Amino acid sequence: MKLYRCRICGETYLGRDKPSECPFCGADIDYIILTEDYPEDVNDVQLTEVERADLETSVELETSNTRFYLAMAARKDNPKLASAYRRLAKVEAEHCSLFCKLAKMPKPADLLEPGEELGGWLADIDESLRRETRASGLYAEFAGRATSPRLREVWEAVSKVEATHIDLDGVAKSYV
Ligand SMILES: [Fe+2]
Ligand SMILES: [Fe+2]
Repeated sequence: MKLYRCRICGETYLGRDKPSECPFCGADIDYIILTEDYPEDVNDVQLTEVERADLETSVELETSNTRFYLAMAARKDNPKLASAYRRLAKVEAEHCSLFCKLAKMPKPADLLEPGEELGGWLADIDESLRRETRASGLYAEFAGRATSPRLREVWEAVSKVEATHIDLDGVAKSYV
């Protein structure tokens, strides 16, 4: 067994080998490093005003998406889909924690309170697709204008994760 750590979210993973992506934030295998190589001060970043505003937008977006997925996960009529979107809610909550850490702000008090879903699996899955597409595009934009290498790295990594969530929405429709 080895101790690994995700460079993006900082969570620790104990395993024989690296996971193909971070089980917590979904970052690609390239960001999984041995725990002794993890730079403890990686999130000590001096923020520009633009970066701070973009982090605040990221926190809002992740909170809204977490709460939307928790609402989907609370539905009783399709346990397979409910569990898939519960997983997504956990990943988005991890992203929210990460952005809060970088902005040095507390997590929103309502982060884990289910929000409102739209009322049907297909409508919700389409809404999820819209949310993930928007998040992925927005983070690519934030990465492009960030001056700090750390923030650029985080937004690039999370943008890719949100893009993989778009694939889940495609698969999910076959379970409706
Ligand atoms: Fe991670
Ligand atoms: Fe996210």
